[in-house]
Amino acid sequence: MKDLLGLSEPSAAEIEEILALGLAIKKKLKEGGAVSPVLKGKSVVTLFYENSTRTRCSFELAAKKLGADVINIAASSSSVQKGESLVDTGKTLDAMRHSFVIIRHPMGGAPKLLASTVRAHVVNAGDGMNEHPTQALLDMLTMKEHLGKLAGLRVAILGDIRHSRVAKSNLYGLGKSGAEVRMFAPGTLMPAGLKEMGAKICSSREEAVEGADVVMGLRIQLERQKAGNFPSLGEYARFYGINEEVMKRAKPGALIMHPGPVNRGVELTCGLIDGETSRIEDQVLSGVAVRMAVLRLLAKEGTV
Ligand code: CP
Repeated sequence: MKDLLGLSEPSAAEIEEILALGLAIKKKLKEGGAVSPVLKGKSVVTLFYENSTRTRCSFELAAKKLGADVINIAASSSSVQKGESLVDTGKTLDAMRHSFVIIRHPMGGAPKLLASTVRAHVVNAGDGMNEHPTQALLDMLTMKEHLGKLAGLRVAILGDIRHSRVAKSNLYGLGKSGAEVRMFAPGTLMPAGLKEMGAKICSSREEAVEGADVVMGLRIQLERQKAGNFPSLGEYARFYGINEEVMKRAKPGALIMHPGPVNRGVELTCGLIDGETSRIEDQVLSGVAVRMAVLRLLAKEGTV
């Protein structure tokens, strides 16, 4: 593969290869071991048209740990503000012979358009409501690390599924890896078509969480809410949020996950976010490892 645009395209074997390398890298990061600077002499551009903390920082750290030079471009302070198109921005970056462009964009399909016009490897860091492949990969890596497998797991995903690129990428990736994905959201936040993509659509949060190995909350994306999809954040938390009572339905010790950023007390109670079974902080380290794995494999430098 030249690019990583989503998890609808890679095979189960390709996803497994990324996760295996990511797990090996994460072990090394935890032990404080050195990683070979196999991307020395290459350069990585992060081109972000939307805000980010985790994804942009972890791609930068991943690239630097692999020895690459990193250039960060925020669209808000670039020539995009003077009217430059995405394709022309891509051609400009390509002329400088960058090896990778990591792009986040509010329009679904923007990374694919960029990838078709540049020589550099393009990695989708989140495109509108379409996909966020490295987020799903880091989620899957975290599950695999703590539960030992993906096949046969029951993963409950609850929250703003309609606007979520994370939900779609997880559905593709977990489905190809043999996990069962259950989803629940208020009707206004549940898009059509997910059942056809393999999800079990549940009619209550209790049904979604029943017997789950992993319970993942998704952020209420206030910036993408054009209409009143629920009365208030307080009512969302009360009637749709994940709390300790709902978690009694899950398997004992079920993992709590969230891609972040979290609206505390809305998608999840603070007790669950900070509790023993929460893996939300660990997901962040998984993000560095899996992004290192993606960069290495796209550059064809697969060993740790
Ligand atoms: N999960 C995620 O994409 O977080 P950021 O928006 O902070 O990158």
